[in-house]
Amino acid sequence: MTFASSSSAAASLTRTAASRAQATVLRRRGFGTYPGQPSGPNVLTSSVPGPKSKAVLDDLNQVGDFRTAIVALQYPKCKGNYVVDADDNTHLDMFGQIASISVGYRNEELEKVARTEEFAMAAMNRPALGVFPPVDWRATLDAGLRKDSVRPRGLSQIFTANCGSTANESAYKACFMAYMHRKRGHSDFDQKTMASSMDNAAPGAPTLSMLSFKTGFHGRLFGSLSTTRSKPIHKLDIPAFDWPAVDWPALKYPLEEHEAENRKEEERVIALVEETIEQWETKAPVAAVVVEPIQSEGGDNHASPHFFRRLREVTIQKGVYMIVDEVQTGVGATGTFWAHEKWDLPTPPDAVSFSKKMQAAGYYHTEELRPSAGYRNFNTWMGDPARAIQAREIIRYIEAHSLVSHTASMGTQLHSILASLSSRYPTLVQNLRGKTEGTFQAFDCETGKERDALVAGMRKRGVLVGGSGERAVRLRPLLIFGEKELEIFAETLEATLKEMA
Ligand SMILES: Cc1ncc(COP(=O)(O)O)c(C=O)c1O
Repeated sequence: MTFASSSSAAASLTRTAASRAQATVLRRRGFGTYPGQPSGPNVLTSSVPGPKSKAVLDDLNQVGDFRTAIVALQYPKCKGNYVVDADDNTHLDMFGQIASISVGYRNEELEKVARTEEFAMAAMNRPALGVFPPVDWRATLDAGLRKDSVRPRGLSQIFTANCGSTANESAYKACFMAYMHRKRGHSDFDQKTMASSMDNAAPGAPTLSMLSFKTGFHGRLFGSLSTTRSKPIHKLDIPAFDWPAVDWPALKYPLEEHEAENRKEEERVIALVEETIEQWETKAPVAAVVVEPIQSEGGDNHASPHFFRRLREVTIQKGVYMIVDEVQTGVGATGTFWAHEKWDLPTPPDAVSFSKKMQAAGYYHTEELRPSAGYRNFNTWMGDPARAIQAREIIRYIEAHSLVSHTASMGTQLHSILASLSSRYPTLVQNLRGKTEGTFQAFDCETGKERDALVAGMRKRGVLVGGSGERAVRLRPLLIFGEKELEIFAETLEATLKEMA
């Protein structure tokens, strides 16, 4: 029985029974048989984008800046791991809408929920959650975003937001407020403080800073952009806060072969963090450090659990909050639900931000990061119940199909394929990253030019992968990426490498 026929036969079963049936078939067959998805890529045009995609994008470009667009997609025709473009080319999607699709295109279980009264109500009657939350908002949160199996350990509170940048910015604001509250020792504001805040001047608008890491990425709004240090193109001409950034550890790969020197490099960076916090104490005290578990946009730069444990130690010693930005690493892709779970931190971070694969955005935080009064960290929507329901269903699907452990085991297979290609094409596939990080893997080409040629060569053959940093190829398959897709990826990469070598 194919998965597709079993799912239609199960239409009359309860949702739980249907999920159980699906899980069994998926476990038996792997995700190569994701129901109804194409059997492989199929590129019909001589170039990608083809003429129809080009026409759609040219037309769009008349009314807005779409120069970044790769191809135009026909979303109704996309399925599982595959997308179909305007020219009817079918692509295996290993980029996932910039790492944001988790459980597949046109996922039938999710679309069934989208057709319910509950979802229609939430989507078409969007509340201003901070002032008129639905009576069941707590229940929606507790069944999804705040579920015990999902909520990071030690973080009882949640702030829902609209995207990764707003999640981070809101977390920054919470840290600044908590920092000043601690310094002041009380929550009253005198007249001078209140009046100066209206002039953007101290003491009401104090000179404080956020510390981030060079080559990191945390978003594109004013506050988050000031902590983003990946590429000038994001930052040019935008006024920025004068905030400190320290080196990211320059590790050698494979990590397990360079443990001693990498440890030394990480200790150098930890010392830099300490020094920087001390030096900025008189200039603009550091209220918080923001860090990605794996620098993603910046080129898939890793650090060890030891580094993050040391960072936590230093932030605690110095009285500085620690925000872990899991916007890209979160929700299963690294083989654990949160990437920071692998660090075994003695004390949880103060905040963990999320977006992308969760489809809903926000941050989890400690009680200490609750502002002293309402409206201090606030906006009109404060998130979106429709997205929270979507997140709840994504989580349910991930758990019903054990997609986190599935992704961990697919990662092991993916890594061994990359390792074998690396030994045969050492200049084009080098510095493999993510051996123990599920399918969140990457490698470098010798140059940026070669990387771009490799990404284009894969695309021409119907496999979408992304670039990041200066010369990295990053893989961001969906959580339903299976053995059949892995085979197709390996064949396509090998054909591309052969052509390039
Ligand atoms: C680690 C990280 N933080 C924050 C962001 C910003 O998210 P958004 O583009 O949704 O504002 C991104 C986006 O790529 C990201 O990768």
